[in-house]
Amino acid sequence: MSETDLLRAEFPLLAANPGLHYLDSAATAQIHRCALDAVVRHETGCRANVLRGSHRLAEAADRAYDAARTSVARFLNVASADEVVFCSGATAALNLVAHAFGATLRPGDRVLVSQAEHHSNFVPWQMLRERAGIALDLLPVTASGELDLAALPRLLSPRTRLVAVTQCSNVSGAWTDVAAVVEEAHKVGARVLLDGAQAVQHGPQDLRALGIDFYAFSGHKAFGPNGIGVLWARGDLLAGLPPFLGGGGMIDEVAIEASSWAEPPRRFEAGTPPIAQAVGLAAALEWMGGLDWPRLREREERLCADLIDGLLAVPGLRLLGPPASARRAPIVSFDIAGLHPHDVCQVLDHHGLALRGGHHCAQPLLAAFGVDACSRASLALYNDEADVAALVEGVAAAVRTLA
Ligand code: ALA
Repeated sequence: MSETDLLRAEFPLLAANPGLHYLDSAATAQIHRCALDAVVRHETGCRANVLRGSHRLAEAADRAYDAARTSVARFLNVASADEVVFCSGATAALNLVAHAFGATLRPGDRVLVSQAEHHSNFVPWQMLRERAGIALDLLPVTASGELDLAALPRLLSPRTRLVAVTQCSNVSGAWTDVAAVVEEAHKVGARVLLDGAQAVQHGPQDLRALGIDFYAFSGHKAFGPNGIGVLWARGDLLAGLPPFLGGGGMIDEVAIEASSWAEPPRRFEAGTPPIAQAVGLAAALEWMGGLDWPRLREREERLCADLIDGLLAVPGLRLLGPPASARRAPIVSFDIAGLHPHDVCQVLDHHGLALRGGHHCAQPLLAAFGVDACSRASLALYNDEADVAALVEGVAAAVRTLA
């Protein structure tokens, strides 16, 4: 058995569907067996609410939830587990920042986003602009969809309070040069928020080394369960932010006249949190932490390069993203002249290939590429040469069928 076959066997859905070429991990990565097992163990062994009960089961749930926070902090290499806020996904985490950090902004303050953002890191800032009278600046992208960092210095000003950009585009696969963004943003005193949704399935992160201020990601893209996500923020920053949602668990004291807030992270976790999902995510992250990432990344890069080479041989196909030689993740979007991506992806589905076709919740970026929609293949650690060959063959067959 190859190393990839062994890996695939650890993912229940892939193990049950040996003929499936799953190439949609940018939308949702498959869940690892250890995450599923951890959820079942938690739900059948210590299901209780957290931070509320004094019985033994509640204490066990508290311990499991706290341990999950510690696992996330380890995966992100951050100073303290208290800087980790659980929420329902990256979208919720980004909206939390837009509300909590957004509440500290004044009319005329500026937020800068890039044209490569997923709608989750775009629309909340447009909504904040309407709510708070801030100005929204746009960092353009290059012809291959990378952030045009040469334009960054002139777009920043002393009124820029936040630079919110993707770590890796969900369409082009381009990695952001985070160090360059942080250097320029911090020069004008702006905070940096990184949308890590597409990065986490390609290995543990070192947020301390990145020097950023906020980070968001979703559990379902890190081989964990749905319905769980993480906001990380620097402890001093988090301590100064007001809550977004009010309710149980986030208070210090509630009186008829007014209420006061708990310390972070609880201040930002109103209501019963996704407890078993946090435990499942922690299991997935611990599993990832034990893998040989330099080798896995090298394989992902090789497969990505082979895929791009194979696709570029298809007549009429245009790659929407940087070339294989660039620093890019194995997310490969393409447009085929005259064919709608929904039709292409439907034909590919008949060949056992699961891809996403559409606007990928990144319409500003697709506008920069001059298309309304495109097809996207996204590879993860369980993909191999057979998946790449099947896709190249499938795309050629789709062109023959649809042209
Ligand atoms: N953000 C996910 C994607 O790019 C859903 O498909």
